[in-house]
Amino acid sequence: MYHVFRRRRHEETYPEDPLRDDESAEKLMKRRDPEWEALYFGAVDRAASDRLMGWLEIELARESALTYETNSHMAWVDLAVLTPHRRQGVGLALLAKAAQVARGRDRSLLISGTDEEDGRRFIETLGAQVALTWRENRLVLGQVDWEMVEEWVTEGPSRSPNTTLRFFESYLDDNLIEEFCEMANEVSNQEPRGDLNLGDEFFTPEIFRERVDSFVEAGGAIRRAITVEADGRISGYTVMGYHPSEATLIRQYGTGVREIYRGRGLGKWVKAAMLLRVREELPKVKVVITGNATINAPMLSINDRLGFKPYKDGIEVQMPLEEVEDFLAKRSSQGGRGSP
Ligand SMILES: CC(C)(COP(=O)(O)OP(=O)(O)OC[C@H]1O[C@@H](n2cnc3c(N)ncnc32)[C@H](O)[C@@H]1OP(=O)(O)O)[C@@H](O)C(=O)NCCC(=O)NCCS
Repeated sequence: MYHVFRRRRHEETYPEDPLRDDESAEKLMKRRDPEWEALYFGAVDRAASDRLMGWLEIELARESALTYETNSHMAWVDLAVLTPHRRQGVGLALLAKAAQVARGRDRSLLISGTDEEDGRRFIETLGAQVALTWRENRLVLGQVDWEMVEEWVTEGPSRSPNTTLRFFESYLDDNLIEEFCEMANEVSNQEPRGDLNLGDEFFTPEIFRERVDSFVEAGGAIRRAITVEADGRISGYTVMGYHPSEATLIRQYGTGVREIYRGRGLGKWVKAAMLLRVREELPKVKVVITGNATINAPMLSINDRLGFKPYKDGIEVQMPLEEVEDFLAKRSSQGGRGSP
């Protein structure tokens, strides 16, 4: 039942992209993230009880997780209703479920997001705060200026002669994982969050291994490039995720350079070198997908120069749970559709 919904939703949102196969999608959904617990709820169509009209995903920091220290106040909420079932109260019913779960788990803030017009209207109706704007950017490999990319790769070691560039598929050498996590803790928590009331995230070798394991078990592969300084410190990285059932796409998950090594062209070097690698080793890939906060000027500047183009504009929003509950109670007292 879920896969039928997933297919229809994919047709609505990314009709031109390949769709991940059912088995891998299921494996990825069922994987256990060490830090975040995911809960799923479906809105079943009463007229056709084997059909889903809508879907709700909630993510909560696990009590045993490091991120519980910084994110125990919030719940990620993602809800979607298929187009023919919209404006019938399904969205609000799913939101009421999210509020009930968040209340039961002592969370005080709901965070969500959208890149669709109906989603924006729904959010306006709720009165949630837009805390961050972001953009999905895409690079069509057939349009890349490969000469420039090669220049960036040549420029990297000439500006940083004591730095080595290394590539890894999925895992890193054991002796690099701890240093990689330390770097990722520093760099990824510096990514701009706008006004989102969101705490730091943590990476440890255990978290790193568990996440890679589950992606690999689901048939995916992680491509990683890192720059290593003469003293062994990792100064920068870029990470991409690839799944063969979406053979024409590769997703750029993250890129970062530690603060003290910035301004030496390392970000350009890792990204450009990774692109050359993708072209050579994954010839089916036609498009690189990435997402950037619109306030992330340094990353956008590199991406713009590489030829990434805006594909979708999105927002991330937040609303205190109490305000969500007040809104739902008011709708309910007015007898509105979707009353909880
Ligand atoms: C957002 C979404 C889940 C809403 O689902 P829905 O079932 O249509 O929502 P509801 O019927 O419960 O709408 C509740 C109220 O929100 C407002 N609203 C919802 N969609 C609207 C739209 N397109 N235009 C104007 N107002 C809208 C209305 O006030 C509506 O009440 P009304 O129909 O009685 O006037 C659905 O549009 C969707 O799946 N969008 C794409 C995914 C997405 O953006 N998700 C993120 C949501 S935070």
